[in-house]
Amino acid sequence: MLLKAMCKNLIIYYFTGTGNALAAARWCASVAEQHGVSGKIIKIKKHLKADISQLRDDTLVGFCYPTHGFNAPPIVLDFLWKFPKTKNKVFLINTRAGMKASKLFTPGLSGLAQVLPAIILRVKGYKIVGFGSIDLPSNWISLHPGLRAKVVDSIFERCERITTSFMGKILSGEKKFRGLYSLPIDLLISPISVLYYLIGRFTLSKTYIASYKCNSCGLCSKECPVKAINMLVNRPFWTYKCESCMHCMNSCPQHAIETPHLFTFIMWWVIFGVVPAMILFSLPFYKDMPHLIQSVLDFIVSAILLLPLFFIYRILHFLLKFKAVSILITYTSLTKLKFWRRYMAPKKYVK
Ligand SMILES: Cc1cc2nc3c(=O)[nH]c(=O)nc-3n(C[C@H](O)[C@H](O)[C@H](O)COP(=O)(O)O)c2cc1C
Ligand code: SF4
Ligand code: SF4
Repeated sequence: MLLKAMCKNLIIYYFTGTGNALAAARWCASVAEQHGVSGKIIKIKKHLKADISQLRDDTLVGFCYPTHGFNAPPIVLDFLWKFPKTKNKVFLINTRAGMKASKLFTPGLSGLAQVLPAIILRVKGYKIVGFGSIDLPSNWISLHPGLRAKVVDSIFERCERITTSFMGKILSGEKKFRGLYSLPIDLLISPISVLYYLIGRFTLSKTYIASYKCNSCGLCSKECPVKAINMLVNRPFWTYKCESCMHCMNSCPQHAIETPHLFTFIMWWVIFGVVPAMILFSLPFYKDMPHLIQSVLDFIVSAILLLPLFFIYRILHFLLKFKAVSILITYTSLTKLKFWRRYMAPKKYVK
């Protein structure tokens, strides 16, 4: 039976850092409207009570969100945990890091970004009618320069076609599980998803600084979707709540937010390389322990070392108020380089 005949309205809950997931949600809602199904999109927030007021038994529910560290962002997982138990039909779309090499579009990697939310929803009683990944432009600016506008446009045109076709098929009653094609590789990299969730994301939150260009306007703190930036002594301070969604770095009007790569590399090398090695190798029998036990000990020591990382970052924040220090640290950032663009989804897709 046609799904559009059974579900008279569609609600898509989305989370986004730089607009990709919002664009995908908009495309889905507009396809629904073309099929005579009213489409609504709602931003995922920490407090979801008001947001589910419009959920009815015949509502088709969608979730759209970026992939972070081969997983769904923690705020999305948290939202899904708290979502009420119903028997609604549901689909999932995770946006990934799409790139383009010459004429070839290259995909990102999902890891647990679909599998885990699908399991959570299934356990809650939802009927999953589809999940798929959309390879929109990568926004991980700490890792690579932003893509050129022409490349961004061509990736968007392609993804719009893929998303509208996916949504059209779902509304016509087809079950679409595009996400299953990459399941073997997704499961293979799932240990990295777990490590990212438990440690990686916290360390990343300490890789942002506001340079001497910052004029303390407070916009980054106001717009952060998880309220992770505190204005400390009038300058942004990134707390462990940060999900590295990249919104702040890409939207600061002064281009003042940087990732100080050299400084970060040295700090990580000392904290997560030199110090654990010194601690662990001083333990009797460490060298003779099985690999698994060694890895568990490695993990525990690294997790404990998040604490000194916090203090070093706090000291850095203090020192950055001195312009000379700020200039020095800022110039260790690759993000400072002229060709290192920023990224936001083109306005026409998210306005
Ligand atoms: C911290 C971070 C981690 C990311 N991890 C992944 C990943 O594991 N796999 C992937 O395909 N893309 C990854 N990306 C890229 C984003 O998921 C992708 O660009 C997404 O489309 C951004 O969506 P948004 O604009 O809605 O935030 C990552 C980006 C960031 C900033
Ligand atoms: S980092 Fe940018 S957005 Fe944040 S306070 Fe400074 S100038 Fe404003
Ligand atoms: S601090 Fe910046 S990167 Fe972190 S969650 Fe907030 S807006 Fe996103």
